[in-house]
Amino acid sequence: MSYLNSEKKYVFQTYKRYQILFVKGKGKYLWDDKGKKYLDFLSGISVCSTGHCNPKVVEAIQKQSGKLIHVSNLFYIKPQIELAKMLSNISFGGKVFFSNSGAEANECAIKLARKWGDGRYEIISFNNSFHGRTIATLSATGQKKFSKGFEPLLSGFKFADLNDISSVERLINNKTCAVIVEPIQGEGGVCLATKEFLTDLKRICKKNNILLIFDEIQCGLGRTGKIFAYKNYGIEPDIITLAKSLGGGLPIAATIAKKGIAEILSYGSHGSTFGGNPVCCAAALEVLKIVNNKKVLKNVEITGKYFLDKLNILQEKYNFIKEVRGLGFIIGIELNIDGKEIVKRCLQRGLIINCTQDKVLRFLPPLIINKKDVDAAISILEDSFIE
Ligand SMILES: Cc1ncc(COP(=O)(O)O)c(C=O)c1O
Repeated sequence: MSYLNSEKKYVFQTYKRYQILFVKGKGKYLWDDKGKKYLDFLSGISVCSTGHCNPKVVEAIQKQSGKLIHVSNLFYIKPQIELAKMLSNISFGGKVFFSNSGAEANECAIKLARKWGDGRYEIISFNNSFHGRTIATLSATGQKKFSKGFEPLLSGFKFADLNDISSVERLINNKTCAVIVEPIQGEGGVCLATKEFLTDLKRICKKNNILLIFDEIQCGLGRTGKIFAYKNYGIEPDIITLAKSLGGGLPIAATIAKKGIAEILSYGSHGSTFGGNPVCCAAALEVLKIVNNKKVLKNVEITGKYFLDKLNILQEKYNFIKEVRGLGFIIGIELNIDGKEIVKRCLQRGLIINCTQDKVLRFLPPLIINKKDVDAAISILEDSFIE
């Protein structure tokens, strides 16, 4: 496997990779270089929600790339305007800034909140959160393991506990401009904020004139069974950040802010060379058309419940399963034992899943899977519990 040595020699060694080389993807399946087929219950970590190489997304990319691949944001970009309109219409009627990654979408939200704060600059985030790897988003991330060695971090971030509203209230002062929260902490181990907590959070943000930012980079765009996670809770954030699945595999991110807030970032105050690139926007338009569909969302809701039920049955059988949690197709099972070996055994048996926080098996399947796929995954998972 010469590519293994070349990767070691030529690529920064920042990723601990499994010794698999995928060469083809179609729908919910991936194939490696030896022709082995895998059922994908990870979707490139919540990216390929519409399935690998979805024909409509592929067609949109091919069409747009044959016409115009890039033009600077000094000029109008038609697919970008169409995508912004669609995102605005399906959310809360705000305006959109496009960038290329989740970290950049959050970076934009942080800059916007600070400028809006007009002297108020503190942002309350949460322990166990994950918001990205740039210095600002690492500073907003509530897990020290990611920022170790990169200090000093950006000042102005404080950390409360998810689902503990008094821990948020204690941190609010006359310098606070925003709260940033993942409604479901993904990297943190699939930890769900409660409806009661998010409702309280909205209330105290409103009362104190503080912006509420929802990082929906991992859990948004249909993954919870609603087009945006916030729609599960009957409240609206002021800003949402999106990335991952938006481009169907192409790099695009969006920061959507309510009208009256978005305008704070005026001419020249923020920008991105590739942000809102025509090809990425054309792909994202197709992705949105596919996922913002009643049938697709209903499938996530119903099959997600079916999946949770099946995992709960496993929990009754195996005492090393501590907790099963999730919503729609963002599901985690917390173990009392290390999860990495189970992930390896699943891969050997042709199922792609992931482990986060050492002990949480995470499932982020494409939104197109059905109950049969769940049964297949459960069967491989259970086999993989035994060495
Ligand atoms: C909730 C959340 N926010 C931000 C990010 C950062 O996204 P990116 O890796 O595209 O910068 C991630 C990535 O895992 C994420 O899950």
